[in-house]
Amino acid sequence: QLVRLADYRPSDFLIDTVDLDVRLDPVATRVTATLKVRPNPDGREGAALVLDGDELKLVSVAIDGVPLDDDAIEAAPERLTLANPPRGPFELTVVTEIDPTANTRLMGLYRSNGAYTTQCEAEGFRRITYFLDRPDVLAVYTTRVEGPKAETPVLLSNGNLVETGDAGDGRHFAVWRDPHPKPSYLFALVAGDLGVVEDRFVTASGRDVALKVFVEHGREDRAAYAMDAIKRSMRWDEEAFGREYDLDVFMVVAVSHFNMGAMENKGLNVFNDKYVLASPETATDGDYANIEAIIAHEYFHNWTGNRITCRDWFQLCLKEGLTVFRDQEFTSDTRSRPVKRIMDARNLRASQFAEDSGPLAHPVRPEAYAEINNFYTPTVYEKGAEVIRMLKVLIGPDAFKAGMDLYFDRHDGEACTIEQFVACFAEVSGRDLGRFMLWYRQAGTPTVEIRTAYDAAAKTFAIEAAQTVPPTPGQPVKQPAVIPMVVGLVGPDGADLPLTVGGAAASPVIELTEPVTRVTFENVAARPVASLFRNFSAPVKVAADLTDDDYLFLAAHDADPFNRWQAGQTVALRNLVARVAALRASRPQPEEPRIADAIGRAFAPDETDHAYAAQVAGLPSEGDVAREIGDEVDPDAIHAARRALKRDLAARLGDAAAAAYERLSETGAYSPDAASAGRRALKIAALDLLAADGAAEGVARAKALYDGATNMTDRIMALQILSLHESDARAAALAAFEADYGDDPLLMDKWLLIQAATPLPATLDRVKALMAGPRFDIRNPNRVRSLVGAFGGNPTQFNRADGAGYAFVAETALVLDRINPQVAARILGAFKTWRALEPGRRARAEDALRGVAAAPGLSPDVGDIARRALG
Ligand code: ARG
Ligand code: ZN
Repeated sequence: QLVRLADYRPSDFLIDTVDLDVRLDPVATRVTATLKVRPNPDGREGAALVLDGDELKLVSVAIDGVPLDDDAIEAAPERLTLANPPRGPFELTVVTEIDPTANTRLMGLYRSNGAYTTQCEAEGFRRITYFLDRPDVLAVYTTRVEGPKAETPVLLSNGNLVETGDAGDGRHFAVWRDPHPKPSYLFALVAGDLGVVEDRFVTASGRDVALKVFVEHGREDRAAYAMDAIKRSMRWDEEAFGREYDLDVFMVVAVSHFNMGAMENKGLNVFNDKYVLASPETATDGDYANIEAIIAHEYFHNWTGNRITCRDWFQLCLKEGLTVFRDQEFTSDTRSRPVKRIMDARNLRASQFAEDSGPLAHPVRPEAYAEINNFYTPTVYEKGAEVIRMLKVLIGPDAFKAGMDLYFDRHDGEACTIEQFVACFAEVSGRDLGRFMLWYRQAGTPTVEIRTAYDAAAKTFAIEAAQTVPPTPGQPVKQPAVIPMVVGLVGPDGADLPLTVGGAAASPVIELTEPVTRVTFENVAARPVASLFRNFSAPVKVAADLTDDDYLFLAAHDADPFNRWQAGQTVALRNLVARVAALRASRPQPEEPRIADAIGRAFAPDETDHAYAAQVAGLPSEGDVAREIGDEVDPDAIHAARRALKRDLAARLGDAAAAAYERLSETGAYSPDAASAGRRALKIAALDLLAADGAAEGVARAKALYDGATNMTDRIMALQILSLHESDARAAALAAFEADYGDDPLLMDKWLLIQAATPLPATLDRVKALMAGPRFDIRNPNRVRSLVGAFGGNPTQFNRADGAGYAFVAETALVLDRINPQVAARILGAFKTWRALEPGRRARAEDALRGVAAAPGLSPDVGDIARRALG
């Protein structure tokens, strides 16, 4: 049941308008869809009309008002076929009945906490009515929502409100009309008893837009930051991309049961409430940053996704990669550009590089899928954004802007492909981007090996770059990619040297297009240190012949803030790898005291960029070390090595960290702004070092911070540090947190997550106990991700040598598969790196996966992940 890109055919029919009449009922909602259908001139003549469905119950079908007999149609829950539809335009009326309460999959229309919500991307609309549920069928929607006044005083759908009225029997209705043709995946309907926060925004051309954020009653005071982020996103898209909003109202609804982060439905974005609700007492700095970024992301989709949508789901990165790129730019402009770049690189490596090196690797634009929901991945989203960033580096900012303008201009109102998108940039830059397209087709993270040579006599500096793209499932042989390598030559005094090639000033962008590329810089007066892939100019792994001395020099001097950070990380990572090898060979731990110089710079009294310094202070993660080692991974050895390095750093930097901690300790009222958040992040990095290995003094400070915290960031960070080692303070803080916040599910999520992510042997037993306890609810995806998802990401405890962690996640995925297959498939994603493990763990992980794959009645979602993970 694979769907293939190569098999794309235009739809045989088009739908110009959709009139929906939705009569809400908890268990028997009646949906009447009236569709203006016509044969597609680009489709096959005489074709049957085959509408998609999913668990639908058909009530009736009529053509041009005339009910159809049973023998004129073929109705199944997953399909409605009209073998002989009219050969000209006609009106099709389909009545279905659905049960929103029984919809635990949270796709289509469902009811949670008494409110009705929809989620239609990718293929949820077919759970509401029979339809041509594919993104290249664009229609104008008019939606009448009718429900009981008491239970659903708020009735929302896409577009502008055109009518409201009484429907008798204690019911009322609202009619919404969305003038912009859209694919079915952007349809939304929300109904419930919700509180609202209102504001307004006047667009650059003078359109007055009403802004509304709907939340659970009593949570209105937690919606202010999201509202502010909406206004800032709207202004930024006008200024940075020339994109204005296009309806009279823009709405965001926060819901507690949601499979993903948020959804960009036209004019009616639906959000997981954790990405809307924030107050200093309940949200951390990280929550504020996520809310801002996700509000921006969904808002930006209005142009990149909604006005210009995808021809088919293979083109998902057309909207997601581009919209991630846009939200990254927004955050860079709003907060700190270098810090954002570092955080994005960390995240890309942790999630996408991991995916790309394992059995679930796939291209940014996949060529086949069994279940599209399993392709909302870091590869499609984050690597998709990196591909666009590389394009910008290659053609330059001016051509990039011209290409974006052309894209908006040329394709507004269309359902497009990646080829059409890239063609805009080829056209404005005059470049052939044919080989650049490989980034969309080839999976796997390229490795670039660098050799450098300084010739003192000739005053030349040569860089040789050899690239390899590794084999990935289904793609044994790869072609060289087009890799933009931005370089600098850092002279002995720490300043950049001019770049000269062939007697002329040279661009810092070196294009690696061959298996081996060489470049020789001239007039290099003294031996420089090469700063490679500045600002992380390509999503590749770099193995350079630079020494630790070179990197330590860059860590001190590189003018590129990303590489200044990266240099310290590289030295630390090399040391961690050496420590792991030593541990496994029972040799003494290799020390590199100068790591403390690089890391310790973060705690210098004159450091003023606290957010950046916090990144400098953060060591590579256990996952980073595992990927660097590559195979035969022993997570316990990695954990022990990292702990040893931290202990070593604590001994060397304890005084500096203690001084920094005092210096940075909170003074005034909480503010979520980037500078204040950076200050807290650096303070916590200092505390983390002071508490390394459960050091009593550090634990005492963490306890004091927990008890005296005046905001949730400090409280959670203190709890997180306390949770790393068994102690009375740990137990007391966890108990206090539950006692204080037990009635706030989003705070209980943090509490569950911290306990599931702890590197302690008791973790699995605790997770099982928590799962049976009152704070957990397997029907709520946020609870599942916080507890089971976090456990699946726990390097040592998921990867317990006895295999109990694998067995637990596999069993839980099977239970969950009956309730919510999409979330179950996500949980199973924990196995994405199992092949890189040492043989004992590998065998146990494989057993667990085989158990899942062999289970009867698997959903397509879980079946697909289990099969691909096994290879
Ligand atoms: N389009 C949404 C966003 O990125 C996410 C939808 C995820 N859908 C899914 N089936 N997993 O903003
Ligand atoms: Zn998106």
